[in-house]
Amino acid sequence: TFIVTENCIRCKYTDCVEVCPVDCFYEGPNFLVIHPDECIDCADCEPACPANAIVSDSDLAPDQMQFAKLNAELAALWDNIALKKDPLPDAASWDGQPGKLEYLER
Ligand code: SF4
Ligand code: F3S
Repeated sequence: TFIVTENCIRCKYTDCVEVCPVDCFYEGPNFLVIHPDECIDCADCEPACPANAIVSDSDLAPDQMQFAKLNAELAALWDNIALKKDPLPDAASWDGQPGKLEYLER
């Protein structure tokens, strides 16, 4: 499965949802997640994210490991999103900032 990692937080560009053939993205206030049981591992979303926030679970960096569990947990709680929308207002300035996990809203 593919995983949305930390750099999506406070950016939420949503280009990823447009390319997913099975619509397995779920939306929170400032972050998106992938439902691990619905993702078919096509990899189309990985290059579509302007923030490079999506990776295969087999390629997760050590400091992003916790996002596998977070994607599964939050996909069960949040609503599906299949249509692209505007990024969050300060997306460009948050892209690439370290330590964004503390800003995750549920
Ligand atoms: Fe959707 Fe494919 Fe990305 Fe999985 S890898 S979330 S199926 S676009
Ligand atoms: Fe997030 Fe990238 Fe999608 S910033 S909303 S994973 S396009």
